[in-house]
Amino acid sequence: MKKNSCFEQCNRVCEIGPGTGRYLDLILNQIKPEKYGIYEIAEDWALWLEKTYKPYVLRHPADGRSLQNTPNDSCDLVHAHGVFVYLSMLNTFEYFSEMTRVCAPGGFIVFDFFSNKDFTLPVITKWLSFKERYPVVLDEDFIAKYFEYRQFQLIHSFSAIYGHSESRYLIFRKNSSDK
Ligand SMILES: C[S@@+](CC[C@H](N)C(=O)[O-])C[C@H]1O[C@@H](n2cnc3c(N)ncnc32)[C@H](O)[C@@H]1O
Repeated sequence: MKKNSCFEQCNRVCEIGPGTGRYLDLILNQIKPEKYGIYEIAEDWALWLEKTYKPYVLRHPADGRSLQNTPNDSCDLVHAHGVFVYLSMLNTFEYFSEMTRVCAPGGFIVFDFFSNKDFTLPVITKWLSFKERYPVVLDEDFIAKYFEYRQFQLIHSFSAIYGHSESRYLIFRKNSSDK
């Protein structure tokens, strides 16, 4: 994210499902945004993050599907890690729609998911040798088209170890006339 300039001129951040704040902590070590909004359905963690990372973190009421407290075109970075690997496809697309809405022109959207391109038979076989059954696999090209249709450019993608295989990260940037 840093290499792709996601932290430059980054004053307003929104994270979905920060959990224990693993990534939030890494980012607040890099930058000090004016506002770091979080939507986390685990209220105990959300409260703890708001208290621990005062005054940056602002906990929003999380209904599990929208970014209801965040205005249109208001965030320089909207991100989620290890969330869309297990939300239902429709729940994920509800969030994608909201992420595109709140992202400011020139801002970034970053998230990971299990890609159909990576979920090969050997990968499925490997997962079946463990007990977890949570993975939700999404069509990577369709996601890229979804964002491109909404005026985002795919600027980078990479894989990271997740669970018993890898999740795919996509970094999108919203088109803007001046950035
Ligand atoms: C696997 S954890 C990942 C936590 C953190 N992002 C990380 O990578 O360490 C998924 C997180 O998403 C939260 N979550 C699950 N469903 C959600 C939803 N519909 N809206 C917002 N957060 C959600 C969970 O409470 C949990 O904190």
